[in-house]
Amino acid sequence: MKTAIYPGSFDPVTLGHLDIIKRGSGLFDKLIVAVLVNPGKHCAFSVAQRMEMLRTVCRDLPNVEVDSFTGLLADYVAIKGADAVLRGLRGTDDYISESRMALINRDLNPKMDTVFLVSSGEHAHISSSAVREIAAFGGDYSAYVPVEILPEVAACLNK
Ligand code: PNS
Repeated sequence: MKTAIYPGSFDPVTLGHLDIIKRGSGLFDKLIVAVLVNPGKHCAFSVAQRMEMLRTVCRDLPNVEVDSFTGLLADYVAIKGADAVLRGLRGTDDYISESRMALINRDLNPKMDTVFLVSSGEHAHISSSAVREIAAFGGDYSAYVPVEILPEVAACLNK
């Protein structure tokens, strides 16, 4: 049984994240989507809200579990006994930062491998920060967020 962890901030989960989750859930027996709890970083949504939105969009994916973690990803991977970490690559900028993070994580936990999925073309420009910024200026971000969570996202970002 192969388990992967897909870690992230998911502030909020986007269609780009969901694409990686769906494709990753087809590659592994179990996929744990893990929200980073980072007390040092201000997020628009609470950890509970982010997990709830992830559970909503993953409800038809029976091998996907939503969890949260704090501290080093390398330690969380060891605790979970996972086989791999899953990350999406939207382009060369992501490749540079993500490959560096994968190397550091392997220094911290030599058993840890990172598997990258290249984002689908229609999602390669989507990010949570773009959603938050568009919302801050009153724009329409509805094409970037799963439709089932649009009310929750709007309730928080369109205040
Ligand atoms: O969605 P994000 O913000 O791009 O996700 C980044 C995340 C959560 C994968 C990354 O910041 C992380 O793993 N943080 C935990 C701390 C850690 O292990 N850092 C790696 C060593 S520098």
